[in-house]
Amino acid sequence: MIKKYQYGKPFETDAVVEKIPVTSDAVPYGTVCTENGFSFTCSLEKNDAVYGLGENIRGINKRGYLYISQASDDGVHTEAKHSLYAAHNFIVVSGEEPFGLFVDYPGRLSFDIGYTEQNTIRISCDDANLYLYVINGDSPYDIVKQFRKIIGRSYIPPRFAFGFGQSRWGYASADDFKKVVKEHRDAHIPMDMLYMDIDYMQDYKDFTVNQQEFPDFKAFVEEMKAQNIHLVPIIDAGVKVEEGYSVYEEGKAKNYFCKRKDGTDFEAAVWPGWTHFPDVLNPEARAWFGSNYETLISQGIDGFWNDMNEPAIFYSREGFNEVKDYIKDFLADGARENLTFELQEKVNSLANNTKDYDRFYHNVNGEMIPHRMVHNLFGYNMTRAAGEAFEKICPDKRILLFSRSSYIGMHRYGGIWTGDNKSWWSHILLNLKMLPSLNMCGFLYVGADLGGFGDDTTRDLVLRWLALGVFTPLMRNHSAIDTRNQEFYQFENTEDFRHVIGVRYRLIPYLYSEYMKAALGNDMMFKPLAFEYPDDTFAPQVEDQLMLGNEIMIAPVYTQNANGRYVYLPEEMIFVKFLPDGTIAQETLSQGHHYVEIALNEVPLFIRKGKCIPVVDAAECVDQIDFNTMQYIGYESASYDLYDDDGVTPIAK
Ligand code: NOJ
Repeated sequence: MIKKYQYGKPFETDAVVEKIPVTSDAVPYGTVCTENGFSFTCSLEKNDAVYGLGENIRGINKRGYLYISQASDDGVHTEAKHSLYAAHNFIVVSGEEPFGLFVDYPGRLSFDIGYTEQNTIRISCDDANLYLYVINGDSPYDIVKQFRKIIGRSYIPPRFAFGFGQSRWGYASADDFKKVVKEHRDAHIPMDMLYMDIDYMQDYKDFTVNQQEFPDFKAFVEEMKAQNIHLVPIIDAGVKVEEGYSVYEEGKAKNYFCKRKDGTDFEAAVWPGWTHFPDVLNPEARAWFGSNYETLISQGIDGFWNDMNEPAIFYSREGFNEVKDYIKDFLADGARENLTFELQEKVNSLANNTKDYDRFYHNVNGEMIPHRMVHNLFGYNMTRAAGEAFEKICPDKRILLFSRSSYIGMHRYGGIWTGDNKSWWSHILLNLKMLPSLNMCGFLYVGADLGGFGDDTTRDLVLRWLALGVFTPLMRNHSAIDTRNQEFYQFENTEDFRHVIGVRYRLIPYLYSEYMKAALGNDMMFKPLAFEYPDDTFAPQVEDQLMLGNEIMIAPVYTQNANGRYVYLPEEMIFVKFLPDGTIAQETLSQGHHYVEIALNEVPLFIRKGKCIPVVDAAECVDQIDFNTMQYIGYESASYDLYDDDGVTPIAK
């Protein structure tokens, strides 16, 4: 049962697609106050858990912290942060009478979940213009499924997107890319996708390709396809200001860029230098921006990642001028010579300064809306621009698409990757914890930069992270330009990587099947143990194991120098290990706590009592998977309902 409440004049985000009439009933479960903005306050019982909030720091159970929905380009994902790149305003409170809340509000919104007062939730924002959805149901899981239904079906990628993808910021030339492919193919490490970061472009201009490095890009794309490699270029939010650059010229002529109050185009510096932001909230401008993807699609490209779309701002023209003036005064004032920290702070405050969100506007149906009010919708609508355009450009084909920033609603158009994590052990666990939360909010095609994006990685970290990554729909090794090389062939004993990636390919029939069932049934692929075993004493507290689909539980190792880990089994299960010699070890373990040994080059999973899963032989790419090799592992008398299709044709909604 879902009730929709309206406060003031909400911005229509299109997050919810089902028509639900607004009710004037009293809001249950808590108290709403609309003096000085909006707030919803309710109390928590001692053992209530709070789930949701999608891409965020901290636990699966979100109790005990302050989360702020404010899409932020911040690459240091520590526990101290309050916001990452996305705004996913959905929570579910478990307890005697479970309920869910979705606050459809695209500006800055706070979720104080027992942070100020341990037993109180307070959701608040400055403007009381929003929709509040209150959902009740039999259980948190039931509430999630109801919510998923009203926000519409999740994005369905092509099947090749379930293969492994290699990425690194810094690959710049055709030769760089060819080398990566050759190294993988020579070492027989399976691979389907090769990601192109910003250096493939001409001067970081969206929808261009560096002519010198790729003199015949179409032929290059074909050459890669012949080796079963899909090239996946990045598209950034900012369009470079440069006379003669057609995207810029057209956007300017048609008034498709975000404007300042005085009607001039807002200028923000990002990778290309000065850029304008396409006004993706304006339907006409959105259609225009999306149509540009055709430039690359017509050259054979069938996948994209949308980046910097919080949108990230290194500095605005206004901010830049302010700091220039400040520096002039600073230098002129001898008394401040020692205060260099003040100068540093001023310069640092240029990037992603929220003051800039008041400096530009969107044109929505002729009304100028300050960016601040709709900040969290930018990445969503950039990705929607692409998704809507693909339906026109190639209606018969699925295109791989994912984004850095997102809001609920974007899950219908693409997936997400979780941004600039680090090569830290704690980030394996963070990756795991986010998966069910993201699924609750509709995001199914998800994954993190495996091995870590920032900082120098280590071989053991990469292997352990991969043993989680083999289960995530998006499986990509991505790293930053200034870090230690992270391709698998850079490390000793490459055969371990071949084996672990091979396990991914052995599991693709199962993973694809479970993904599709979740997408078509508005279900979750990854669930907290609490959702399957709500009455178990320990299961609701487990924060480092997940249920995947209906058959398995995963429990990766995420600590350095460990030979294994403790795991909790809410019921009897078969402990499966994919061993480096290609065999599969299976051992029945009783309900309860166990210590299981897992070597660096082994991939563990647990099959639930009475279930089985399909496994095929490893292949070097998705298209070469031989379904004739399919066998079932797990409980002998069990059967499995395998979903399959051609993996290419879009599925009618
Ligand atoms: C930021 C993205 O999060 C990262 O993945 C990418 O490598 C850099 N931008 C450069 O494009």
